[in-house]
Amino acid sequence: MASYIARTCSGILRLNVTTRSGFPRYLSAEPKKYENILVEKKANDGCVGFIQLNRPKALNSLCDALIRDVNDALDDFEKDEKVGCIVITGNEKAFAAGADIKEMQNNTLVSCLRSNFLNHWSRVANNKKPIIAAVNGFALGGGCELAMMCDIIYAGDTAQFGQPEILLGTIPGAGGTQRLTRIVGKSLAMELVLTGDRINAQTALAAGLVSKVVSKESVVEEAIKTAEKISKNSQLTVALAKEAVNTAYETTLAEGLHFEKKIFHSTFATEDRKEGMTAFVEKRKANFKNQ
Ligand code: HXC
Repeated sequence: MASYIARTCSGILRLNVTTRSGFPRYLSAEPKKYENILVEKKANDGCVGFIQLNRPKALNSLCDALIRDVNDALDDFEKDEKVGCIVITGNEKAFAAGADIKEMQNNTLVSCLRSNFLNHWSRVANNKKPIIAAVNGFALGGGCELAMMCDIIYAGDTAQFGQPEILLGTIPGAGGTQRLTRIVGKSLAMELVLTGDRINAQTALAAGLVSKVVSKESVVEEAIKTAEKISKNSQLTVALAKEAVNTAYETTLAEGLHFEKKIFHSTFATEDRKEGMTAFVEKRKANFKNQ
């Protein structure tokens, strides 16, 4: 075990311990403080990483600094071996009302090209650990796109989803024409993208955009419950399963089935696969060690 001191961007000193598995384990009692998000660990043993978007006055519109905060928090949760699943939420009025229009207002093609605008938005989609979006209120534009970058979406009964960029003279830029079309099909995606209209939680459920609708008061709790359940499984196998499901979006069926079989075979190299099947035969609960 190696230990070292690291200074975070907020100036908090952390003692990082590198475990035998090579993952640093943060021992800081103080959660990091961010300007645009609140971050903590939830569930009894802190196995759920929790990120709350926190720009309520701007309906959680996604300014550049907020996305950087989210990315930084995800980096920490990905390294934290205790965290098995992550929940991202907003507040009762808004998950996020889109990219920050005021920040984008004076962008030019040249400034977009120079800054590679939106390049760092893909961190959520590329996270190794599963992420659940718990959506209340507006999930519009980049807010809807952020939810779709997550692996599971739960909606409160007052949630509204939409891609209103067309009303601003632009188009979705972080997956609204691509992920939305793959999820809900061409007709509904086209309607939302071309009109800027919104759909409610029930329509989103019927279209397969969200997997569960609950009361707005309980959506975060439901998401945390599911995240905790996922965290109790082998993190190794969960990461492989997530990769296999996501591959369905990237390849032909034949290639996907081939990939799935290879991943399935590879689980037989893990201690957790052995433990899972042995526990079943011995009629006890599996004790996964992520090995
Ligand atoms: C910046 C925003 C904002 C946004 C709301 N606000 N959405 N600021 N960017 N996307 C600010 C308002 O300016 C206002 O600030 C405050 O939040 C409250 O908003 P209101 O409009 O007064 O609230 P309400 O009347 O309840 O209307 C809610 C709303 C509306 C329907 C969600 O705010 C709205 O239409 N927002 C824009 C939605 C949108 O077009 N999203 C797509 C953005 S483009 P002040 O200071 O005036 O009180 C996008 C591109 C993605 O996402 C590309 C890839 C990332």
